[in-house]
Amino acid sequence: MKILVTGGAGYIGSHVVLELLAQGHEVIIIDNFSNSSEIALKHIEKLSEKSINYIYGDYGDENLLSNIFNCNKIDAVMHFAGFKSVSESQTKVLNYYLNNVASTLTLLHKMKLHNVRRFIFSSSATVYGIPKRVPISETAEVGGTTNPYGTSKYIIEQILNDLGQANDFDIVILRYFNPVGAHPSGLIGESPKGAPNNLVPYLLDVAAGIRDQLYIYGNDYPTRDGTGVRDFIHIMDLAAGHVRSLDFLQTNTGVHCFNLGTGKGYSVLELITTFEKLTNIKIAHSYTERRPGDIAECWADPTNANRLLKWTAEKTLQDMLNDAWRWKNNFPNGYF
Ligand code: NAD
Ligand code: UFG
Repeated sequence: MKILVTGGAGYIGSHVVLELLAQGHEVIIIDNFSNSSEIALKHIEKLSEKSINYIYGDYGDENLLSNIFNCNKIDAVMHFAGFKSVSESQTKVLNYYLNNVASTLTLLHKMKLHNVRRFIFSSSATVYGIPKRVPISETAEVGGTTNPYGTSKYIIEQILNDLGQANDFDIVILRYFNPVGAHPSGLIGESPKGAPNNLVPYLLDVAAGIRDQLYIYGNDYPTRDGTGVRDFIHIMDLAAGHVRSLDFLQTNTGVHCFNLGTGKGYSVLELITTFEKLTNIKIAHSYTERRPGDIAECWADPTNANRLLKWTAEKTLQDMLNDAWRWKNNFPNGYF
């Protein structure tokens, strides 16, 4: 199939593109490199031994989209592009709604005009807000989001549900839990611009001597060791979930929503200890205030994805951290 991938140079998109190419799909990437680099695409070319068809531009640019849809028979769109920082979304509110919501509407509108029905959307466990219980299943209440980033995902999900009801599109909404790790080659991985917001990239900076210590946001949560618990999922498992979603849309219509997680939660301290054991590197850390908006614990019930997508996360926390560390050693400053 010919797949248009928005944000295909980014962390998740780049790993998915590699999987799509490995499965024999044809890929067109649209990316403006606002949070990524062309180097990622060079590395995908090296790994896949295929040349990448990519367009430098904004996925919300109507003319650009018309050109792409006029010149190519696109079978499906995988939509990764957007802004993703929870903290930044609280100060750049309009930027987030414009880039995440308004541009997605433009993209969907162009798809409709060109009769492209299949759409796979990067949503997030953040749409569950503060979960009433764990593991979280797809039927849990959504919408209690606490920041514009999370709300932008929730709004798009609502729009996609309406489109599905109107029988205009065939859609898979994927709610990611905590994607971490890198391709086992160590050639592509997560490359945050500036100080990382997320746990694993920050920990890798400390391990590499780029930052002095890791600040653990709170040790008084009602969890087994007081630190936050999350469902960390290997980026390659996450990528495989996208290819399975594409297969799923070949035989299923309407809107479908799946959690992509392992079903297992690890605490921040457990993750640090696992990394220390694997690498023999001590991670200096101290406790600080809880981060506003953080929840105590969050892990997925992945039963629906296991059953309907015929997909299961296979890699362990050790795999995630080993692969992340290999990438960090190869590219301590990422692509930048
Ligand atoms: P990323 O920032 O690495 O990738 C996003 C890509 O989109 C980047 O290459 C960026 O340059 C591009 N982009 C942004 N705005 C664009 C625009 N207007 N036009 C063209 N390209 C544009 O992020 P990621 O971690 O790969 O996340 C991908 C998707 O998954 C995002 O929608 C994100 O919200 C969602 N998600 C990510 C996580 C996570 O922890 N990484 C968790 C849940 C959901
Ligand atoms: N944490 C620290 N110190 C840090 C960074 C994080 O202690 O320097 C803790 C957090 O408090 C939390 C855990 O590590 O308990 C994980 O935090 P992350 O920032 O890595 O991830 P989040 O669970 O906060 O959020 C991530 C993505 C969101 C996405 C969500 C979906 O960043 O975009 O997963 O579950 F919505």
